[in-house]
Amino acid sequence: MKELEERILKDGHVIMPDILKVDSFLNHQIDVALFEKMGAEFKKRFANKQINKILTIESSGIGVAVMAARYFDYVPVVFVKKANSKILNDGVYHTKVHSFTKDNDYDAQVSKNYLSDQDHVLIIDDFLANGAAASGMIALCKQAGATVEGVGIVIEKGFQPGRQVLEAQGVQVESLAIIDHFANGQVVFQ
Ligand code: G4P
Repeated sequence: MKELEERILKDGHVIMPDILKVDSFLNHQIDVALFEKMGAEFKKRFANKQINKILTIESSGIGVAVMAARYFDYVPVVFVKKANSKILNDGVYHTKVHSFTKDNDYDAQVSKNYLSDQDHVLIIDDFLANGAAASGMIALCKQAGATVEGVGIVIEKGFQPGRQVLEAQGVQVESLAIIDHFANGQVVFQ
């Protein structure tokens, strides 16, 4: 998506060898007009899929997912919660997710009330790096018997293995911008 790539070049900062900071429009402040266009683009990419629910994970996925839902006939958006609690709750599906960026584990949970075998799910997230968060969401869908129709990502870091991890699970992955590599602190797209 050209406008997104231009925005990343204009406002993104490479802050570590492999981390892109995009707080000014995605991860802290939200550019609502850009989010709307991203929502429309996800609809185009998954136009042939019958989707009745969008699943994302707190926190940065939520805004993108809500905007996308507007273009999928206002289907409900469910966001997976990140819990540290060790208390087991019968009312939720849960799975462990490892965050490579933060180097910690969390329990990803979704209520059994909001995910079921009737659901055809589009998973949305802001970044795809190692694919741990999206794999966790796929695992939750499997537990619920829901069908994963695809994964929509805003920014994919193509030099990390996330896409291969998801495609190995038979899932269509669509990313609005794919970073090939960082060179001297600059983003280079695929
Ligand atoms: P993975 O889910 O693809 O395996 O990614 P990883 O564990 O490496 O990433 C953990 C968190 O860091 C995720 O957010 C992910 O979206 C984010 N992230 C990964 N790479 C980048 C990057 O280059 N730039 C930015 N800005 N974020 C990145 P999260 O922990 O779920 O946090 P949030 O959604 O609450 O912000």
